[in-house]
Amino acid sequence: MTLIDARNMPRHVGIIMDGNGRWAERRAEPRSEGHRAGSRSVRRIVRLARRIGIEALTLYAFSFQNWARPEDEVSALMVLLQEYLFSERDEILGNGIRLAAVGELDQMPQEVRHVLDALCSESAANAKMTLTLALSYGGQEEIASAARAIAKDHAVGRLRLEDITVDELSSRIPSQRVGSPDLIIRTGGETRLSNFLLFGSAYAELFFSDRLWPEFTEEDLFTAIESYQRRERRFGQVVA
Ligand code: IPE
Ligand code: IPE
Ligand code: MG
Repeated sequence: MTLIDARNMPRHVGIIMDGNGRWAERRAEPRSEGHRAGSRSVRRIVRLARRIGIEALTLYAFSFQNWARPEDEVSALMVLLQEYLFSERDEILGNGIRLAAVGELDQMPQEVRHVLDALCSESAANAKMTLTLALSYGGQEEIASAARAIAKDHAVGRLRLEDITVDELSSRIPSQRVGSPDLIIRTGGETRLSNFLLFGSAYAELFFSDRLWPEFTEEDLFTAIESYQRRERRFGQVVA
């Protein structure tokens, strides 16, 4: 068992859950089976994150660019998401988890929106961990939307140019509501961010795992945290 230091936990962890498709292809199964197996990993990892005291967990579940995938894969993902929300309701409410969502949520199917919104409001007062699902999410899209809101406020005289600071921009970026991520994990072997948390990732520690998301275990999360704890975060400064 990997040993982690309870005094040096990442406060906010983001996960790019990649590799479902390849997991399924290796087993000669349809990609949707990979997504189904992936949702079992979500269950495991959410439970563990809550247990070890991670305050915020942001999961990249569906990117804005993923809408361009074949229609049957997209609809399978939407059904699985709905099933996940139904089946995890008790787990979320019973464990003090606050559910949130970021992304272009207006594009999500009505049925998904319905369960999602309901569970977000039911769990709104929970404070043990914030679980944010990034859905129809793109980091560039999120920044563009904040820029539009700022331009609008400036145009009507509600915001002066000199007040457009990093903090002001951050306050208009929904994924920043839980603060910048300390650690971003990507499974599936690719070493890129694929439009995840672009604003907040400025000083995030990155951990890339070759493990495909459906096979990512509790032990793998411990390994990622242990790696995080061995790093020296300098934020551009010189450490004495
Ligand atoms: C990640 O797995 C899940 C989503 C993007 C929704 P992929 O479906 O991207 O799996 P690979 O990368 O093709 O293996
Ligand atoms: C990132 O994975 C999106 C999610 C995990 C939801 P992708 O599979 O979409 O990213 P690329 O295409 O490898 O960059
Ligand atoms: Mg992928």
